[in-house]
Amino acid sequence: MRSLCCLLQAAAVLAVSVADIQGAAFQSPLKNKVVHDVRGVVTAKGPRGFWISGPSANDSRVSNGLNVFTKSASILRQVKVGDDISLSGRVVEYRSSFKPNDLFLTQLSTPSSLMVLSSGNTIKPVVLGVDRSPPTQQLSALDLTGDLDGYLSVPNNQSQLEVSNATLQPDLFGLDFWESLEGQLVVVNKPTALNYPTRFNELWVHGDWPVTGKNKRGGLTVTFGPNGYPDANPEAILIGKPLDDTKNPPVTVGTTLSNIVGVVTYQYGYYSILPLTAPTVVSTPDYTIPATSFVPRDDSCELVMADYNIENMGPRSHHLPIIAEHIVESLGLPDLLFLQEIQDDSGAKDDGTVSANLTLTRLVNAIADASGGVEYRFIDVDPKNNEDGGQPGGNIRVAYLYRPQKIRLLPGSPAGHALDPSKPFLDSTKNVALTFNPGRIDPSNDVWIEARKPLAVAWQTSSGDRFYTVDVHFSSKRGSTSSHGSARTPVNGRVEIRAKQANMTANFVRNILDLDPSANVVVAGDFNEYTQTRSVYNGLAEVLHDIDEISNVDPVERYTYVYDQNTQQIDHIFVSNAIKNRGTDVEHVHVNNWAPLLKDRASDHDPSVFRVKICGMFPQLRRFFIYMVLTLVLDAASHPATPHHLVQIPYVLDVFLRLYRNLLG
Ligand SMILES: *[C@@H]1O[C@H](CO)[C@@H](O)[C@H](O)[C@H]1NC(C)=O
Ligand SMILES: *[C@@H]1O[C@H](CO)[C@@H](O)[C@H](O)[C@H]1NC(C)=O
Ligand SMILES: *[C@@H]1O[C@H](CO)[C@@H](O)[C@H](O)[C@H]1NC(C)=O
Ligand SMILES: *[C@@H]1O[C@H](CO)[C@@H](O)[C@H](O)[C@H]1NC(C)=O
Ligand SMILES: *[C@@H]1O[C@H](CO)[C@@H](O)[C@H](O)[C@H]1NC(C)=O
Repeated sequence: MRSLCCLLQAAAVLAVSVADIQGAAFQSPLKNKVVHDVRGVVTAKGPRGFWISGPSANDSRVSNGLNVFTKSASILRQVKVGDDISLSGRVVEYRSSFKPNDLFLTQLSTPSSLMVLSSGNTIKPVVLGVDRSPPTQQLSALDLTGDLDGYLSVPNNQSQLEVSNATLQPDLFGLDFWESLEGQLVVVNKPTALNYPTRFNELWVHGDWPVTGKNKRGGLTVTFGPNGYPDANPEAILIGKPLDDTKNPPVTVGTTLSNIVGVVTYQYGYYSILPLTAPTVVSTPDYTIPATSFVPRDDSCELVMADYNIENMGPRSHHLPIIAEHIVESLGLPDLLFLQEIQDDSGAKDDGTVSANLTLTRLVNAIADASGGVEYRFIDVDPKNNEDGGQPGGNIRVAYLYRPQKIRLLPGSPAGHALDPSKPFLDSTKNVALTFNPGRIDPSNDVWIEARKPLAVAWQTSSGDRFYTVDVHFSSKRGSTSSHGSARTPVNGRVEIRAKQANMTANFVRNILDLDPSANVVVAGDFNEYTQTRSVYNGLAEVLHDIDEISNVDPVERYTYVYDQNTQQIDHIFVSNAIKNRGTDVEHVHVNNWAPLLKDRASDHDPSVFRVKICGMFPQLRRFFIYMVLTLVLDAASHPATPHHLVQIPYVLDVFLRLYRNLLG
C-alpha cells in the first residue's frame, strides 16, 4: 500500500508535457524529478534511446522535443518512429563527469510504464530557415558583459552559462537558439560545409538561412558585426554521427550537401544535429588553387615577401618538397620569406640537437630543384634546447629565406645567439642598425618562457636602402575551451601572454621608429590570434598598420586558418607608416585550406604573399630626378643671370627636394 504522502507527490508530477520538462531556461525546472504520463510522438531512434515530440508550447524559448535515454533493447524494440506514446521516467541534466565545461543535456532517463497509444502518426520537423532561423552574431548574452571584444573579451571565464541558467533569448543568442530546439527534429536545407570533418567525422555546416561573414569559398570568417562586436558565427551547427550508422562524407570548406533531417542535441562540448542518415555530397568547390598574382620585379625598391607557418618541418618531413613547391609555384619565389615552425636537424627526436642548418639547407635545395636553380639563403638563431615550446625535441623556431641577388643582411653587427637581446641604435651613418643581426627580441624576458622568440633583422637592398623585419610566432591557444561551452567568455588559452608578447614586439618597433620615424618595418608571422581580439593588438596598433586593413582586403576574405566553424586569420603582417604611405598589397594563398582532403594539406596554415615598397618608385626615376635638379642648377649657374632667373633657383630646388622626399625618399 502506498502512503498518502507518496500518492500526493506522484499526483503533483502527473501529466507533465515535454515542454514543461524543457522549460524556458538552460536547465529543466523538473531536474531530478520523476514524471509520469509524458506524451509524445517518436521522431527518431538511436542506439542509446529515442526522441519524442510533445505538444508545442507556442513559445519559441521552449522546446517540445526530448531525448529519452535508454540502452534497453526491449524498450527500444517496443517503439517505432511515428508511435504516439506515454511513459514515465526521471528528468536528468546529463554531462560527462570528464567534461566540466560542457553544457547539460536535458533527458528523460530510466523510462518505464511505456504505452504505445497509436502508430503511424505524421511528424512535422522544424524547418530551419523557414520556421526558425538562428541568430547570426552572438553566442551568449554573457559574452557581452566585458569590453567591446564580445566573445573574445579578456579576461575569459568571468561567468558560467550553467550557473547563470538564464531564461533563453533565442532570437539574439546562438546557444539560446540551439538550446530552445534541444531534442527537436529539424531540417537543414542545402547545407554548406564550413570545415573539414572533425576527428569524430562530424561536419560543421550552415543551412539555407541568413548568414553573415560568408567568404567566396563558402566558409564563415571571423569578422566584426554591425554593432562593432566580433561576430561569433552562431548560425553554424555541427552535424554528428548519423543515427542509422551510415558515415558522413568527406567535405571541405564550401562542399554542399543533400538536405539533413536530424535531432538537436548537445555532445562533446557542442550543440549538434544527429542526422537520421548521412547526407550525400551535392557539389564540391573548385580545387585548383590560384597562385599569387605578385611577381618579384627587377626593382630594388619593390619587394615581394611571404609569410608561412610550415608546421613542424624537419629535414626528413614528407611535406618538405611540397612546401618547396608551394614557394616556387604558388608564392612565385618571393624575395623574402618569413617562416615559422622549422624543426632542428634531428626533427622531433629529443636528442639535444638545436641547429636547423640541415632542415633549412634541404628546404633551400628543394626550392632550387623545383625552380631550376633559384638561390635562397636562410637565417635563423638556434634556441636553447627545449626552451621555446612546441613538440618536445623539435626546437621549432622562426627563420627567414631570402634571395641574395635582391637583398642582404646589413653588415657590421654580429649574429645573435639564443640569449642575446638585439636592440636598435644609430650607426656612424646616422641610420638605424641592430646590435645583433640577426637577433632575438629580449629573449630572457618571462613573456617568452616556452615560446618562440621573435627574430629581428636589419636588411639592405642593392641600392643601399634599409628595412627591418621581425618574424614572430606567439604562444599557442592551448587550453582554450569550446565556444559552445559553459565558460563565458570562452577560455582563449594564453591570450594574456600573447598580449604581452605583442606589446614587447611593439616596443621593439617603437624603439626603431623613435630613432627614425620613416623607417621601413615589417612584422609578420603566426600571432595565434585574430585581430578581432583587440586587447592583444592594442600595443601593435599604436606603431604599425595591419596590411589587410590598409590594402582594403575584403574582411570575409581575410583568413589563413580554419578551426571549428570559423575561417579565420591568425597569421598577420604589420607595416610601418613609411611602407603604408607608398601603398601595399596582400594575398592569402589557400594552398592548404582549399585542399580536397585534410590529409592533402602540407600545413594547417595558408601562406600570405605581400608587396611593399621600401623606397620610392624606381631607382631609375630617382636618378632621373637627381639628374634634373643638377641640370637645372648648372644651367642656371652657367647662364648670365637675370635677376628673374636667380630668384627661381632656390624655388626650383625646394620643389624638387620636396618631391624627392615625399614621393621618392
Ligand atoms: C534553471 O532555471 C529554471 C527556470 O527559471 C528553474 O526552474 C530551474 O530550477 C533552474 N535550474 C537550475 C539548476 O538552476
Ligand atoms: C498552441 O497553439 C495551438 C494552435 O493555436 C493550440 O492548438 C495549442 O493548444 C497551443 N498550445 C498551448 C500549450 O498553448
Ligand atoms: C571557470 O571558472 C570557474 C569558476 O571559477 C571554474 O570552476 C572553472 O574551472 C573555470 N573553467 C575553466 C575552463 O577554466
Ligand atoms: C650553421 O650554419 C651557420 C652559417 O651557415 C654556421 O655558422 C654554423 O656553424 C652552422 N651550425 C652547425 C651546427 O653546423
Ligand atoms: C599593451 O599596450 C597597450 C597599449 O599601450 C595597453 O593598452 C595594454 O594594456 C598593454 N597590454 C598588456 C598585456 O600589457
